[in-house]
Amino acid sequence: MTSLRHAIDSAAALLAEAGIDSARWDAEQLAAHLTGTDRGLLALLDNAPGQEFFEQYREVVAARSRRVPLQHLTGAVSFGPVELRVGPGVFIPRPETEALLEWAITQPLPQRAVIVDLCTGSGALAVALARHRPAARIIGVDDSEAALDYARRNTEGSHVELIGADIATPALLPELDRQVDLVVANPPYVPDNATVGAEVAQYDPQHAVFGGPDGMVVIAHVVRLAGRWLRPGGRLAVEHDDTTSALTVELISGTGLFENIVACNDLAGRPRFVTATKRETS
Ligand SMILES: C[S@@+](CC[C@H](N)C(=O)[O-])C[C@H]1O[C@@H](n2cnc3c(N)ncnc32)[C@H](O)[C@@H]1O
Repeated sequence: MTSLRHAIDSAAALLAEAGIDSARWDAEQLAAHLTGTDRGLLALLDNAPGQEFFEQYREVVAARSRRVPLQHLTGAVSFGPVELRVGPGVFIPRPETEALLEWAITQPLPQRAVIVDLCTGSGALAVALARHRPAARIIGVDDSEAALDYARRNTEGSHVELIGADIATPALLPELDRQVDLVVANPPYVPDNATVGAEVAQYDPQHAVFGGPDGMVVIAHVVRLAGRWLRPGGRLAVEHDDTTSALTVELISGTGLFENIVACNDLAGRPRFVTATKRETS
């Protein structure tokens, strides 16, 4: 076990040198992944790993030091109460979105609520909401085949329905008009000219990240669909860039269809999503 500890210490030092803030966490997560155990149980491993482990460990640590995302190397990410499969071609769910999830699970909805997760990606919000609402109808929508491939795997055995569609499509799914209780969305919202970190630039699909010149292009489609699909009293939550909270509030209130429009922060205290209720009179 000393040599495993030594390998993790060396890996953490290497990753720190490569500028990775969470160096020790990543070194331990990679070791846990390769040994098939939980990070917290590494010290309790009964048998020292063999040579093959150390070779594979060197390779994944080297990849991580080249900024390959940790989640691409482990193939998984935790999001709220669920573990999701992720990899190249799909957006890695972020902790920022867990604040929106927390808001969504506390909303008073009918038992058989209809919930739509627009821009579902790996299925993160849809799968986590399905865990909390076993009797709800939950629909995830995305236009990326690569993302839908992961979403299909992540929703296997759950009651989430997936639809492949571009949400800019006019008259999309008219059968949902005034039938939906909750619309949630974490769409692409980074303004096109914003600078993003190396990992986002190289490994997140650009289509999942950038939302037009002001970051509002896909958010506008989300708000338009929520205006049509929500029943009176239905709720909307849409995530946005930390620079576009006021624009998002303005866009939602400009439709005249919503009330109780609230700008909310993420768990790090940054403006991150806006919630609203469809007017009873709409
Ligand atoms: C930021 S990612 C979010 C994924 C997921 N909601 C999450 O929180 O991890 C945005 C997703 O929107 C999808 N997307 C972008 N434009 C779209 C459009 N016009 N119609 C449908 N999906 C779209 C992308 O394929 C990507 O999966």
